[in-house]
Amino acid sequence: MKILVTGGAGFIGSHTVVELHDAGYQPVVLDNFYNSKPGVMDGLEKITGKKFPLYQTDCNDFDGLDAVFAKEQFDGVIHFAAYKAVGESVEQPLMYYQNNLGTLLNLLELCRKHRVRNFVFSSSCTVYGEPDSLPVTESTPRKPATSPYGNTKSICEDIIRDFVLSKAPVRAISLRYFNPIGAHPSAEIGELPLGVPGNLVPYITQVAAGIRGKLSVFGNDYDTPDGTCIRDFIHVTDLAKAHVKALEKINKTDEASYYDVFNVGTGQGHSVLEVITTFEQVNHLRLNYSFEPRRPGDVIKIYAQSDKINSELNWKAEKTLAESLSDAWRWQQKLMSEAPIS
Ligand code: UD1
Repeated sequence: MKILVTGGAGFIGSHTVVELHDAGYQPVVLDNFYNSKPGVMDGLEKITGKKFPLYQTDCNDFDGLDAVFAKEQFDGVIHFAAYKAVGESVEQPLMYYQNNLGTLLNLLELCRKHRVRNFVFSSSCTVYGEPDSLPVTESTPRKPATSPYGNTKSICEDIIRDFVLSKAPVRAISLRYFNPIGAHPSAEIGELPLGVPGNLVPYITQVAAGIRGKLSVFGNDYDTPDGTCIRDFIHVTDLAKAHVKALEKINKTDEASYYDVFNVGTGQGHSVLEVITTFEQVNHLRLNYSFEPRRPGDVIKIYAQSDKINSELNWKAEKTLAESLSDAWRWQQKLMSEAPIS
């Protein structure tokens, strides 16, 4: 089966390309390199021994996308390409709504036109906001989003559901990711944050590498065992495998209007401090950090219940926090030892 992977050179997209290939699919990468680099394709080739077809196309370019669909005749789409910086989305909401919603509308329209039946969407646990009870299940109510970014994920889920229910020839799954971290164990691909990393683990690896002087831990006075926020950190290769399982499920379902959502997490919450100490232990180094005021908009505590994806998609996270943090550090070291990826 030939699968279009939008944002296929990005962090989660590139790892998913590897897993699709390993599972016997033919991934086709489409990326505008807004937040990724063409050099990622070399990493993919080193891991898989394969040069994947690549289109440098923006998903806002309907005609350009239409030409790719016409040429390739896809069997499925996994849609990663989106803006994802929470803070930036607060400053530039229209840019986020225009891009994240517009690209989805283009892709769904083209799936209808070219009769591509299988669609997997990159959603986020951000749709749960600050949950009233933990762990969160798929039936935990969604909350009003705390950022335009989060709102785009929620609206996109609704758009896909409504489209599928309209008897469109498309069946779909939205995967609600918890916090993806780590890198491919080969250290050939990983996260490539542009500028100052906003997320915890890339910031940690850059502090460990001496690129940044100190990690600010945002808040140590939360109502949690050690006072820092709690998240469900999932290894990016585990997350990538969930996409393969989602495609399998959609492809074999008999239901005409199949749409479902799945949490993709480990089921375990870890605090920011636990991440720091585990990183130090597993990589045998010390991190320079200090406690700073809370970051506005942060959820205090969230982790998944992953029973639904375990039983219905036969997927379960396999890697530990320690493995994730070891892989993240190996990747950072590789980045420092070689010419920058361009
Ligand atoms: C956020 C979004 C998530 C999105 C992800 C991608 C929410 C609730 N979550 O995740 O949907 O997919 O960004 O960008 O909108 N931290 C520090 N110091 C740092 C960086 C982070 O202490 O330098 C702390 C944060 O305060 C937080 C935790 O680490 O408590 C995780 O932060 P981060 O990695 O940014 O992820 P989320 O905010 O959980």
